[in-house]
Amino acid sequence: MNILKLPTAAEVNEVGADLITSLVQTKPNAVLGLATGSTPVGIYQELIRAYQRGLVSFKQVKAFNLDEYVGLPATHSQSYAYFMKEQLFNHIDIDPEQTNIPSGTAADPHEEGKRYDALLESVGNIDLQILGIGHNGHIGFNEPAPALVSGTHVVELAEQTREANARFFDDKSQVPTHALTMGVGSILKAKTILLVAKGADKANIVHRALTGPITTECPASLLQTHPNLVVLLDSEAGRNF
Ligand code: PGA
Repeated sequence: MNILKLPTAAEVNEVGADLITSLVQTKPNAVLGLATGSTPVGIYQELIRAYQRGLVSFKQVKAFNLDEYVGLPATHSQSYAYFMKEQLFNHIDIDPEQTNIPSGTAADPHEEGKRYDALLESVGNIDLQILGIGHNGHIGFNEPAPALVSGTHVVELAEQTREANARFFDDKSQVPTHALTMGVGSILKAKTILLVAKGADKANIVHRALTGPITTECPASLLQTHPNLVVLLDSEAGRNF
């Protein structure tokens, strides 16, 4: 594991975006695993800037997002499909047909999970997967549990997760109770994993995930087993290292 502790969140964004840009420059048809939440937004802004400067093209890139709320259509302002368009896809030259995210409104979410896994399998492995980390150690929406699921599946969101995400909704009651998420097996298949954390509120969980026991009660701890894990931390998130 390669832990890079950088002085500021701005530097985390720059280094994260540089890693992705370099990958796409050398492999224009790279498969990117993308994430939502506050953490990657600054990295996406740097990617947009690199695209606008003509440093990189995403024309041939395939993108797979980690997760989506069950029940929210792609047009809902808090759906992750909407988030990705607003924060990244609408501002770069990626082919919308090559952007993938589980559908929150599939008639059968379990079947949707299977469809998504088949799609992932059809493109081979994700070259680089961006991950944030939840305060409880979740990755994607794989919440702490006695056992974890490998493939894309429906999860009930932890109360802590719904509380953390309530800031984006009018109130907590509007936060969906379930989500579809790629499983830890699919995440760990990525050739490179880029785990990003910023801010003092992530310091303890990042330290526990990367130095504590490997346990499904802290899904991010499974990342310790990955052969090519890059961790980008700002000084606050990295203060325990
Ligand atoms: P955040 O969420 O980036 O909004 O902190 C991360 C996560 O819950 O995985």
